[in-house]
Amino acid sequence: MSGNKRKVVLVGTGMVGMSFAYAALNQNVCDELIMIDLNEKRAEGEAMDLNHGLAFSHSSMKIRCGGYSECADADIVVICAGANQKPTESRLQLLQKNAVVFSSIVPKVVQSGFEGIFLVATNPVDIMTRVTYELSGFNASKIIGTGTTLDTARLRYLLGEYFEVDPRNIHAYVIGEHGDSEFVPWSQALLAAKPLKDVMRDNPKSYYMEELEQISDDVRCAAHKIIEAKGATYYGIGMSIVRIVRAILQDENSVLTVSVRLRGEYGGKKDVFIGNPCIVSANGAKRILELKLTEQELQKLDNSCTILNDNFKKLKL
Ligand code: LAC
Repeated sequence: MSGNKRKVVLVGTGMVGMSFAYAALNQNVCDELIMIDLNEKRAEGEAMDLNHGLAFSHSSMKIRCGGYSECADADIVVICAGANQKPTESRLQLLQKNAVVFSSIVPKVVQSGFEGIFLVATNPVDIMTRVTYELSGFNASKIIGTGTTLDTARLRYLLGEYFEVDPRNIHAYVIGEHGDSEFVPWSQALLAAKPLKDVMRDNPKSYYMEELEQISDDVRCAAHKIIEAKGATYYGIGMSIVRIVRAILQDENSVLTVSVRLRGEYGGKKDVFIGNPCIVSANGAKRILELKLTEQELQKLDNSCTILNDNFKKLKL
């Protein structure tokens, strides 16, 4: 760790990486941000561009490009490197090519002497997080993926609109694969302290379960829709990364639906990295909150785990 200085290394300066960097600068989330990219010239250009905006921000962040030796005293290494989805591709179709990219990144981070937290955003994020775990040999608590944090934010935004309630008072989560098998465990959703199913029961003429299902479909399809419209998604995920980075650097103990390694939860599920509410602190994934899922929700989680496990096993590292 770098003493009192909050140091983050970003690997991958594509649109997602740079949206993170830009949001990090605007939110003054760390003291030092080092950017690494295979294309060094690009990273240099990005560092210059951001530095020119420093005077207009409330930040005195030190931003520069650098090499893997910079990871030695970093608190967090954020990985955004790799290919992203084309309009007709699923996140899972990126797996093999991005695993190859990771096998040239993670060992170099480890060799630097890095002892901090890995935060992975590259898709398919749950499996890339597991790949990082395998390649690094780190304790699982120090390996976090962005998981379903963005999906959960999308859900809360849409539910906030639907119920006309501040999204911060909506406690509902998207869990499972960050991908086509993700789902909302409605049995666990709350509006403030009131279970959503009670809100529905008390207002049968205002709210309908089919409309909630439509909202969860809209969340699941959001990335596809954005990619179809503008080629890629990056602002939302960039801001999700900042949120997680802040939880770690400020030792917040915040509950976020990051991708974490299950340790026997949900009837003995192990090894798989998957989006689930987890307490995030300076030590990384501190505690997984196992939800009391219905039988049907458990089946959906099972399905996500199977998809992630099967795809991981197909991988040639
Ligand atoms: C999304 C990408 C990050 O959901 O997977 O926007």
